[in-house]
Amino acid sequence: MKNTFALLLVLVFIISASCKRNAGDVIENKVNDLLSEMTLDEKIGQMSQLDMGSFGGPENIKQAARDGRCGSVLNYLGTKEINELQKVAVEESRLGIPVLIGRDVIHGFRTVFPIPLGMAASWNPEIVKEAFRISAIEASSQGIRWSFAPMIDITWDPRWGRIAEGCGEDPFLASTLAKAMVEGFQGDSLSDPTALAACPKHYVGYGFSEGGRDYNTTYIPEPLLRNVVLKPFKAAKDAGAQTFMSAFNDLNGVPTSGNPFTLRTVLRDEWGFDGFVVSDWASIQELISHGFATDEKDAAAIAINAGVDMEMVTSCYYDNIKQLLDENKISQAQIDEAVRNILRVKFRLGLFDNPYADPEAEKTILNKSFLEHARTVARQSVVLLKNDNKTLPLSGEISSVAVIGPLADSPRDQMGTWCFDGDTAYSVTPLKAIRDVLGEKKVNYVAGLTYSRDKNTKGFNEAVRAAKKSDAIIYFGGEEWVLSGEGQSRGEINLPGAQSELIATLAETGKPLIIVLMAGRPLAIGNEMAASDAVMYAWHGGSMAGPALADLIFGKESPSGKLPVTFVKGSGQIPFYYYRNNTGRPAVPESWTHIDSIPKENPQTSLGYRSFHLDYGYAPLLPFGYGLSYTTFEYSNLTLSSDLMRESGSITVKATVKNTGDFDADEVVQLYIRDRVGSITRPIKELKGYKRIHLLKGEEAEVEFTLLPGDLAFFNGKVTATEPGEFDVWVGANSDEGLHDEFKFE
Ligand code: BGC
Repeated sequence: MKNTFALLLVLVFIISASCKRNAGDVIENKVNDLLSEMTLDEKIGQMSQLDMGSFGGPENIKQAARDGRCGSVLNYLGTKEINELQKVAVEESRLGIPVLIGRDVIHGFRTVFPIPLGMAASWNPEIVKEAFRISAIEASSQGIRWSFAPMIDITWDPRWGRIAEGCGEDPFLASTLAKAMVEGFQGDSLSDPTALAACPKHYVGYGFSEGGRDYNTTYIPEPLLRNVVLKPFKAAKDAGAQTFMSAFNDLNGVPTSGNPFTLRTVLRDEWGFDGFVVSDWASIQELISHGFATDEKDAAAIAINAGVDMEMVTSCYYDNIKQLLDENKISQAQIDEAVRNILRVKFRLGLFDNPYADPEAEKTILNKSFLEHARTVARQSVVLLKNDNKTLPLSGEISSVAVIGPLADSPRDQMGTWCFDGDTAYSVTPLKAIRDVLGEKKVNYVAGLTYSRDKNTKGFNEAVRAAKKSDAIIYFGGEEWVLSGEGQSRGEINLPGAQSELIATLAETGKPLIIVLMAGRPLAIGNEMAASDAVMYAWHGGSMAGPALADLIFGKESPSGKLPVTFVKGSGQIPFYYYRNNTGRPAVPESWTHIDSIPKENPQTSLGYRSFHLDYGYAPLLPFGYGLSYTTFEYSNLTLSSDLMRESGSITVKATVKNTGDFDADEVVQLYIRDRVGSITRPIKELKGYKRIHLLKGEEAEVEFTLLPGDLAFFNGKVTATEPGEFDVWVGANSDEGLHDEFKFE
């Protein structure tokens, strides 16, 4: 019986594998048949993506589709409009090839989820996957079948405005989320009309721009590239991502939109990627500004040779491919390969069979369950940074609260950067949500500052009056949406405008002061934290940020987010990330003397000569993985299945986590390792596992992780391998604490 069952399983496996292969063959045959009928002009057309604005509006785009001159379009909106365009492409162009409609659906379409950095703070791939599924359902209802996301650039620099769009500093967390995001977009089947082809970006290294200035130069040695920066992209590829976007930046001297090492050697040869690569906006033309190409023709040749299949917006390809072929600077085989890659994705998306969006599908947009999910994600993305004397949660019976601050009632700002399609009418602010809970009369609202950069203090007196007549103050501040995102980098990462003064002024009232910060980056908020009783970090939480925050403020649920990025004390401490190397002079608490305490006479005797700043010290403001709860968790019984791992083996790591407080809550349990000695220096900690668990008060659970040899492997400059030696392992609540054990790898 057992044997028959096993045989059946094997048969099912073989049949399904061969079906997949056959489906692949069928598509490949269709691609080749179509390719054999195409003229060179039509091929060049497929390699061009037109922007509605830059190309002079819908009629021009339609004509281009009719002429077979556009493979894809971006920034074209509306079900009716997109269907009309498809009709032209399908019925009026010579070969009837449908257009692929792309759009930046970065953290939601009409239902807006928290910015990706906020989603990352949830450490919950399941809810993130569902958020991306919902985004795909909404966007595809209009005929959009391709999103320029997920953005999975690792960065160590909170000055960089685009930190808002990514998953933070850690390659492991970002990889798990990249997989969830790709799977959410692409769904169970690419040919389903609700599937969006994913486009991991920006490939690659863009988050390491010098000084956090956008578009800037990056120098990333290959071990860092492979051990950190490429990791989430590999995870996205393995999850089936159909397209990649080549980035703006130059990488070790070679712009990434003309970089054969990253685009061909790594992406195609090593990873076996068979989708297509699109350039970022004008990034082929920008090879000229980089000083890497002499003119547009040269730029086109470099990008084609490097492996960029489709050009976004500019027309270096369109204008120059023919001549480049005549001059043998590129080959017909390269053009055919690029077009094959593009057509393959169009066939997989089912665009040839079903090019039109169903006008009925749009009715799902902004449905209640989508907004409810946005509320769940927003809630789980909030990180509680401080909660002295159990200031939070507030009782729903509280007689009055003062709601103060420039972001208490700012529907657009809470939706964050890269939000083209969100509807402010559906953006529920904290003020509205708190009024819904307490009733209008109990809420004394004074903005105090009209927007986050406002320096005018004339509203402070009224804010103080409101605070004085209330039982608690809830301050909503941070950054407006426009202070993070593309081209929106900041040199100082403090609270802008006169917000710090307003917080200090409110603190003087002696009333319990809760500050809720909504921002696109981790801000340097040491002083504001010190001045307040409780602090919640809410990022830009999207459409339902208000209700989500009210749920937490009034204790419907406990905060459960954890920081996906280290919080620094000030810009001068950047970069500071948890998986830094130890150095020969690691900083320890005892070795640091604050700059103000160094004596005037014989000052050198007080110096530790260790790796720290005299003013900032040896630690960041808050470590990666940090986040408090309304309850407390106790970690115990760390056990390893063995203290020795071999090449073919694994180790099971278990720990008990108990909810020792009086609030049912989620905890994100984190596993870190350290490879003590390596052929190149190794980080002091590396995240290798995490689990979000729910524990009722008093409840305990055993949390289990499996470590495999591959989890210990790293690229040492020559090969990726696991090196024999001793390893530390920690299981805990953040990167700075945890139960410790050790094992060996042989
Ligand atoms: C951004 C990309 C984006 C593209 C299309 C570029 O400026 O860097 O992230 O997908 O524009 O809007």
